[in-house]
Amino acid sequence: MHLIETRNLSYTYNNNLAALEGIDFVASRKSRIALLGPNGAGKSTLFKHFNGILTPTSGEVLVRGEPISKKNIHEVRKFVGIVFQNPDDQIFSPTVEQDIAFGPINLGLDPETIAHRVDSAISMLGLEDLRERVPHHLSGGEKKRVAIAGVVAMEPQVLVLDEPTAGLDPGGVEDLLAFLQTLPDRFGITVIFSTHQVELVPEIADIVYVMNRGRIIGSGTIEEIFSHEELLLSTRLQLPPLPRAIHRLRDEGVAIDMAYRYSDAETSLLKAFSRQP
Ligand SMILES: Nc1ncnc2c1ncn2[C@@H]1O[C@H](COP(=O)(O)OP(=O)(O)OP(=O)(O)O)[C@@H](O)[C@H]1O
Ligand SMILES: [Mg+2]
Repeated sequence: MHLIETRNLSYTYNNNLAALEGIDFVASRKSRIALLGPNGAGKSTLFKHFNGILTPTSGEVLVRGEPISKKNIHEVRKFVGIVFQNPDDQIFSPTVEQDIAFGPINLGLDPETIAHRVDSAISMLGLEDLRERVPHHLSGGEKKRVAIAGVVAMEPQVLVLDEPTAGLDPGGVEDLLAFLQTLPDRFGITVIFSTHQVELVPEIADIVYVMNRGRIIGSGTIEEIFSHEELLLSTRLQLPPLPRAIHRLRDEGVAIDMAYRYSDAETSLLKAFSRQP
């Protein structure tokens, strides 16, 4: 059974423009899924269907095999946690600590469990120094980390992150990637994230969906999707710089192994060009 499945999902905002058309998407347990697409492709609109914030105009959304309904919406929201693209949509308490506690309090957990979850989310997202700060006075990247911590503290089985690295500095991106990479194996959590930063995709994801103009135009493993450079180019996205360079070298007849993750690409380049006897 899939944890999340959409079947022929279409959605039209009230301006009558179809934001999503015929979306078939599946997420199974412990997978790492990237939703890659340019601005306006429909990524945020699709995510808002995963826990019932939006209801399909046609088609269906199943969570653990069940359509989302009034009866199960509370359970669905416990199971699927969404970190919105804009942290200001998510942060409203007087202190960072209280903000992170908001979700666990709403789940009706006991004070000890709440304190434990808040502490561990603060430590996982490196927010120790910001605990007592007013969320609205934080920088964009700091707010983003607080918003992620707030959802993580609810311990969802599926963690959905809409553009999680937007506004983070390189160190912040690296820390977040390391954190997201560990979730499936350590906690059995399924991670679904959207981005148009193509270079992040091979670092976190096993499976990629490519979206453009409200449709899914390709899905598969990193190798399956990234070996079709024209698919990315058709959406005004492109391969990350190192894989792109390796592609060109191969086109020029250089013997070099194709690689998509940054560290694999570096190894490929070193192997091809180091002058070892
Ligand atoms: N509240 C709304 N009312 C009307 N149209 C909307 C609304 N929100 C989004 N849209 C439209 O739906 C389409 C998909 O938007 P969406 O925000 O899902 O794209 P996205 O892939 O998340 O883009 P981005 O990378 O910029 O975040 C766009 O054409 C957008 O203009
Ligand atoms: Mg978006």
